[in-house]
Amino acid sequence: MVRWAIAATWPFGQMAVEVGSRLLASGVMGIDAVEEAVRAVELDPSIDSVGVGGIPNIEGEVQLDAALMRGRDLAVGAVAGVKGFSSPVGIARLVLEKTPHHLLVGEGAERYADAHGLERSQLLTQSSLEAWQKRREQLAQASSSPEVPGSHDTIGVVALDQRGGITAGTSTSGLAMKLPGRVGDSPLVGSGFYADDLAGAAVATGCGELIMRGCLSYAIVDLMRSGASPQEACGDALGGLVRRLEKDLPVRSATEDMTKMAVLAIDGEGNVGAAANHAEFDYAYCTSKEGKLHLVRASIIN
Ligand code: GLY
Repeated sequence: MVRWAIAATWPFGQMAVEVGSRLLASGVMGIDAVEEAVRAVELDPSIDSVGVGGIPNIEGEVQLDAALMRGRDLAVGAVAGVKGFSSPVGIARLVLEKTPHHLLVGEGAERYADAHGLERSQLLTQSSLEAWQKRREQLAQASSSPEVPGSHDTIGVVALDQRGGITAGTSTSGLAMKLPGRVGDSPLVGSGFYADDLAGAAVATGCGELIMRGCLSYAIVDLMRSGASPQEACGDALGGLVRRLEKDLPVRSATEDMTKMAVLAIDGEGNVGAAANHAEFDYAYCTSKEGKLHLVRASIIN
C-alpha cells in the first residue's frame, strides 16, 4: 500500500518532488509539503517561468500567480498578478488559512503580504531581463503573429499525505510578454488546479487561455470521482477539450506555444497519471512504495 505520493510538472518538478517527498515521509500534512515543494521552485532563479527570475510581462515586470487547495475541506488560497514577492504560494497559503476569501489580486494581495511581514524582493534577474529584451526585439521585428519563444511552464504539484489528505499547488509567472494584469489558469480553482480528498487532485500547465475554457483540473477530478484512473481522467478530459476546440486552435492561437496544454493527476491510492497534447511534457513523481524519484514523459492524447 502507498502511504504517500507526490508528483510535479516538468523536469524542474524533480526539485519539488525531492523537497515534498522528504516532508511527506516525515509525516507532515500534504498542504505543508506542497507549499514547500512549490516554494523550492519559486526561489530558484535559474527556473525562468516561476517566482524569482520568472518571465516578465510586456512592460518588463514579473507578475506572479499561485494557488493551494486542500482536499479535506476544499479550501482554496490563491493570488494573481502579484509583484515583488519571491514566494506567491506563501501568500496563497495565508489567504487560505487566514481570510474568508479564496483569491486576492495585485496590489491587494501585495498589501496583505506586507501586513503579514513577508519581505519584498527583486524578481527580475539579469538573465530574465536579457530574455525579455530579446523577446521585445523579436516582437518589434515580427510582421504578424510573432512566435515568442519560451512561455508558461507552471510548477504544479499534487500530493497524497499519510492521513489520506490530497493537495494541489501551482505557481507561475504566466505567459511570456503577457499584458499587465493578464491572469492564466494557475490561480483559478477548477482550471489550473483542483483537489478533493474524496476523488483526487489535478493540475494543469500550458496555455491558460485554453485550459480555463475547459475547467480542466475540475473535469479531471470529476472523472476520477466517477471511477476513472488518473491516467484515464487526464487523457479523457484533455482529449475532450482538444477535440472541442480543434477547429479553433490554429486560427485563434498567435503562436504554437499557445496551443500547448498538459495535465497531471493523483488519486487517493497514490496512483499518478498525466497527458499532454504535445510531445515535450515530462513530470516527476515519487511514492512511499519505492522512495525513488522518477522523471517520465507524459503520453500524448489521440
Ligand atoms: N498555465 C499558466 C498560464 O497560462 O499562465
